[in-house]
Amino acid sequence: MSETRERKDFSNGPLCLSGRGVTKVFGIGDRKTVAVDHVDFDFHEGEFVSIVGESGSGKTTLSKLLLGLMNPTEGEILFEGKPRDISSGSKKREYWKGIQAIFQDPFSSYNVFHKIDSVLLDCINMRGGRNLSKEKKIELMTEACSFVNLKFAELTNKYPFELSGGQMQRLMIARIFLLKPRILLADEPTSMVDACSRATILDMLLDLRDETGMTIIFITHDIGLAYYISDTVYIMEHGRFVESGKADEVILNPQAAYTKRLISDVPKIHEEWDLSTVDLLSKEE
Ligand SMILES: Nc1ncnc2c1ncn2[C@@H]1O[C@H](COP(=O)(O)OP(=O)(O)OP(=O)(O)O)[C@@H](O)[C@H]1O
Ligand SMILES: [Mg+2]
Repeated sequence: MSETRERKDFSNGPLCLSGRGVTKVFGIGDRKTVAVDHVDFDFHEGEFVSIVGESGSGKTTLSKLLLGLMNPTEGEILFEGKPRDISSGSKKREYWKGIQAIFQDPFSSYNVFHKIDSVLLDCINMRGGRNLSKEKKIELMTEACSFVNLKFAELTNKYPFELSGGQMQRLMIARIFLLKPRILLADEPTSMVDACSRATILDMLLDLRDETGMTIIFITHDIGLAYYISDTVYIMEHGRFVESGKADEVILNPQAAYTKRLISDVPKIHEEWDLSTVDLLSKEE
């Protein structure tokens, strides 16, 4: 995971999701929490953005605001340059054609009573493919599965709980491949899988972006992953963006004390351990 990728500059490209002074306050009085505190952002078409911060910094609250699962207390979210309107059920459904999400726990995202083929078939139907022939539907599902290295023939008739965590997350990506939203929001999608599956999933997300031009918003507490995968990073502390910019610039030349601390917390596997203070001989006595 250490090779450097070529990163593109999106700063002059078309905007897909922006925020101005976006704020979310929970509770009132003494019990008030400002989970997201006047954040501004501009995410561009095809950009791979990471939002990095520690537990409680407001990442999931911001994802819910971006997804339209809750409304900001203050501020404005713009979709493709225009104020987002999710004031009715039908407007929300229209917005969700443009933005989809994958979450930390893939098991929570599936209806356990639905077989895998019906999970994928639903995606085809949602994209207006209800009247396609059965053969064409199978072809699309097979293609989506092979994009994530799963074999459709081996999955038919299985239930989601019969898959491993890594396979489930790949199935989530196959769904996104079929749904082809403009924006994918991925909230800690690799935190429940092993390191090997994690690298595979990250590479699949990059392929997905390269193949479809979708904007990916990747939420993580791991600044190392953010550096590996993104064009642009936003560093979040106590609900605020303390620093943002191109991944190379922010991570190789951090300005904010918080960013410097996140970087210094990454375990350095190449650094030799200092064992001089360890008294090995006393153990043998
Ligand atoms: N529904 C809610 N009601 C009240 N407070 C909330 C609610 N949701 C989140 N919070 C508070 O808002 C703050 C931000 O929480 P959030 O879940 O967004 O953090 P996070 O960065 O996603 O953390 P983690 O890395 O642990 O997932 C926390 O202090 C949390 O307690
Ligand atoms: Mg969270």
